[in-house]
Amino acid sequence: MTGEADLRRRMARLSAEQKVRLLTGADFWALHPEPDVGLRRVVLSDGPAGVRGETWDERDTSANVPSPTALAATWDCERVEAIGRLLAHEARRKGVNVLLAPTVNLHRTPFGGRHFECFSEDPLLTARIGVAYVRGLQNSGVGATVKHFVGNDAETERMTVDVRIDERTLRELYLAPFEAIVREAGAWSVMASYNRVNGVTMTESPLLRDILHDEWGYDGLVMSDWTAARSTEPAARAALDLVMPGPASRFGPWGDALLEAVQAGRVDEALIDDKVLRILRLAARVGGLAEAQAPYEHPVPHEHPVPHERRSASLVPVDIPAELRATAAASFVLARNERSLLPLSRSGLGRIAVIGPNAEVARTLGGGSATVFPPYTVSPLEGLRDAGLDVAFAPGTLGHLRISAARAPWLLRPDGWGSGAEVRFFSPSGELAGSEQRDGAVFRWMNGFGSAGAPEEVARLEISCAIKATVAGVYQLGVSGLGQFRLLVDGAEAFDDTLSMRADADIAETLMAPPQRLVPVDLTAGQMVTVRVEHDVHSSPMAAFGTFLQLDLEVPHGTDDEEIAAAVEAAAGSEVAVVVVGTTAEVESEGFDRTSLALPGRQDELVRRVAAANPRTVVVVNSGAPVLLPWADDVAAVLLTWFGGQEFGHALADVLLGDAEPGGRLPTTWPVSQEGLPSTRPADGVLSYTEGLFIGYRGYDRDGREPLFPFGHGHGYTTWSYDGITVDCAPVNLADPSGAPGVAVCVEVRNTGRWPGREVVQLYASRPDSAVERPAKWLAGFAAVGADPGETVTVGILIPERVFRHWSGGGWILEAGTFTLSAGSSSASLPLTASVTLK
Ligand code: BGC
Repeated sequence: MTGEADLRRRMARLSAEQKVRLLTGADFWALHPEPDVGLRRVVLSDGPAGVRGETWDERDTSANVPSPTALAATWDCERVEAIGRLLAHEARRKGVNVLLAPTVNLHRTPFGGRHFECFSEDPLLTARIGVAYVRGLQNSGVGATVKHFVGNDAETERMTVDVRIDERTLRELYLAPFEAIVREAGAWSVMASYNRVNGVTMTESPLLRDILHDEWGYDGLVMSDWTAARSTEPAARAALDLVMPGPASRFGPWGDALLEAVQAGRVDEALIDDKVLRILRLAARVGGLAEAQAPYEHPVPHEHPVPHERRSASLVPVDIPAELRATAAASFVLARNERSLLPLSRSGLGRIAVIGPNAEVARTLGGGSATVFPPYTVSPLEGLRDAGLDVAFAPGTLGHLRISAARAPWLLRPDGWGSGAEVRFFSPSGELAGSEQRDGAVFRWMNGFGSAGAPEEVARLEISCAIKATVAGVYQLGVSGLGQFRLLVDGAEAFDDTLSMRADADIAETLMAPPQRLVPVDLTAGQMVTVRVEHDVHSSPMAAFGTFLQLDLEVPHGTDDEEIAAAVEAAAGSEVAVVVVGTTAEVESEGFDRTSLALPGRQDELVRRVAAANPRTVVVVNSGAPVLLPWADDVAAVLLTWFGGQEFGHALADVLLGDAEPGGRLPTTWPVSQEGLPSTRPADGVLSYTEGLFIGYRGYDRDGREPLFPFGHGHGYTTWSYDGITVDCAPVNLADPSGAPGVAVCVEVRNTGRWPGREVVQLYASRPDSAVERPAKWLAGFAAVGADPGETVTVGILIPERVFRHWSGGGWILEAGTFTLSAGSSSASLPLTASVTLK
């Protein structure tokens, strides 16, 4: 029996009740099991930068890979496929079957809150990186969920906004990465987004059936984004298969209402059968269906669920730290390097001043559902110290906007031993019902308290710890959360308050950045105080979703003026100054967009003053997305490092010292200013993509504007000359990414510098005499090549024919005639041109 016949046979054994039950999740992170047909519990987990698993805290740690912007900046499909494999092994280690990633919405504008979580402004680069990511995951037996289908390119009013996109723009830009991934990598799951597109909410959109199913032949599953399903019958008639989260008694519009609609004949049972088949197919693909028949008999056996004690590091065949370190270095974009300040020569290198708010605290990921809890992180300061350098540190200024969670060395367990806190759970009758010893001060129970080892019926929480002062001064101590909180310091009540959120705040914003209540506590050096937080669980308006709170602490620090002065002094007294500026997971997050692209606080002033004190200043920009760098022309070197994952600091030391070449090229244009960028602000609930095809470099070209750093830009440590281009060449290293017919192009480059290096050869197409409105140029293909000093290499790039087609009148049209192909090292440096005539 074939796999498909086997799935149908199993489905036929299910009653209508059983079928409908499968169509809403069993809980926050899993599908309903159905032992009658051998269906196990299939577990889903966020997200793009690691595999969080079913708990949302430090107890179940996850390898934290560099942010998706960083992955795209490598322009290296093989490397990204390897990251996909690494994530698959993480997933298997943690008992996860389907990853809720990759996010392939486009960088329509840098204001987008989840910009860090998406790959690029260019649909072709997004598609190539996305295909590689999905192949890496799925070839290892773990499902990918390509999200968010479609038009979820910003966060403002994301639950309701009606995104208006003309058909050509939708096809050529926003649907293109989904199409490539579905067709080429055969994605097993797609997530329908919260927003509407052209008037219809995406979980009910005809795009699901008409395009995804019928045009692209998609046989995978469509799940709703969390709480995005809004109706019983329209959503059931659309090609939405799975409502998340569950259970149906708590979340979502299906469950009994859908069963009743099926029984009354208002929803055809054949539609339900198709959804159930897709669920069974997904389960079979990820090893969640007992004794599945070929082709679903997966080569990688899964054991579900994987109990904690049976999770084994031996499942991981890769050296995770080494791979994350190399990937981070390969993603760093050296945007400016005057007088070849970088790499720094180790020999005779004197003291380095390491400065900046992002130097000491490792900012390795963005906020929202992409959050994971790495087993450790390496900050820039630690990375440079580990490299054996003589380092003078000065924070310079504060970069964060909110007070962060209490941490070591100030946070101690109540008995004073070890860093962390104790949580005690109380039942509605006030009895102690359980407790947990925790290593940190961030607490999130998203799936009830049961999965955290505590009983489900919890009415009150108490969190106890001690805070020990390292220096004398005023400490700000408090909590973040929603609902009623009482804080006691050394047994005395500091406050008893109810914290509430703005009514229009998005759920993710509420979860990630809830209100804070702080009190000043004056401590002497070495003084220890006991702290207790009491929380009435049901006082939170979000209690149905989960309970989340954080114990906050800010330690005494100088004023910005004092800290900047100390940083300038450190810079002046050092041979080189490395200033690490950037954002945080609070600034770049799901649930809201940025309203300013400026670096938070007085970081611009810090950079200017340090650079004035030391001409050998390297600015490291640690952000997931573009920020404004008004001083860029006044500093010697600018290295853009994204959110670099847990090995960030080590990778930074490798690149600064020349042990690794900065391999990244910009996947997105970096703007000079905020002027002229597309907006994320809907007007009366409508967000119109009025710029049409002209996002990113396409928009700059059309308007004749100069960016700060162009798309595709980035220096390595060597130099290259572009010596020749041939169309329809005899293929050299030619890999066809899509299997479709195309045009073969060979580009000859020579390493003219003193270092071995890697160059990303980029090809752009244009059509100067077109009868159709088009961008001045668009990315047509790329390939990376390595060469030693003096060596000449030829790289072959196959351009799929689709690259030359445009969408018109309901089809992909080839405008016959001559296209220009330009090759070079960025969208703004294209020394070679050739032409190709297509009929
Ligand atoms: C996000 C998704 C995520 C889901 C589950 C939603 O708010 O938009 O990307 O996978 O939550 O955490």
